[in-house]
Amino acid sequence: MVRHRLISQQRLVQTVSEEENRPWSKVIKSERLKIGQKKMRSVKERTGGKRRRNVLLARTETGLHATGALCKHMAWPLAWGGKIEGDCITCPLHQSKYDICSGDVKEWSPFPRLPMYGKILASMRKERPLEVHEARDVDGWVEVRLSL
Ligand code: FES
Repeated sequence: MVRHRLISQQRLVQTVSEEENRPWSKVIKSERLKIGQKKMRSVKERTGGKRRRNVLLARTETGLHATGALCKHMAWPLAWGGKIEGDCITCPLHQSKYDICSGDVKEWSPFPRLPMYGKILASMRKERPLEVHEARDVDGWVEVRLSL
């Protein structure tokens, strides 16, 4: 029992240190992302490979946010016509709505409501939240730390 707890604590410490060791990437000048604006940028994963991930950056009244760039319904880039209201972004295609702080789905493909094509389209893809990344302003740059 004691040994099991020790192994669990070691794994927890290892997981926490992996989280803290993830690097921050400079993505865009802070002045180019004003309140109410959103941008899509490609961020290189710094795990040794050449893989990049598309990130949506948005600045709202409550702060700076970084999420996955593509709508989880049919992969429309949310920076292209996505509408920000409060801390939510709505995809222009079928109007799926996400909380950009948590990535949670608020509404899943409701459009068009009549006829009921929206519901049919909604059933084609399983509802999934947006990935959420850490974002901060440092020395005039927006920096992003990708989630695992
Ligand atoms: S692609 Fe975004 S709601 Fe369908």
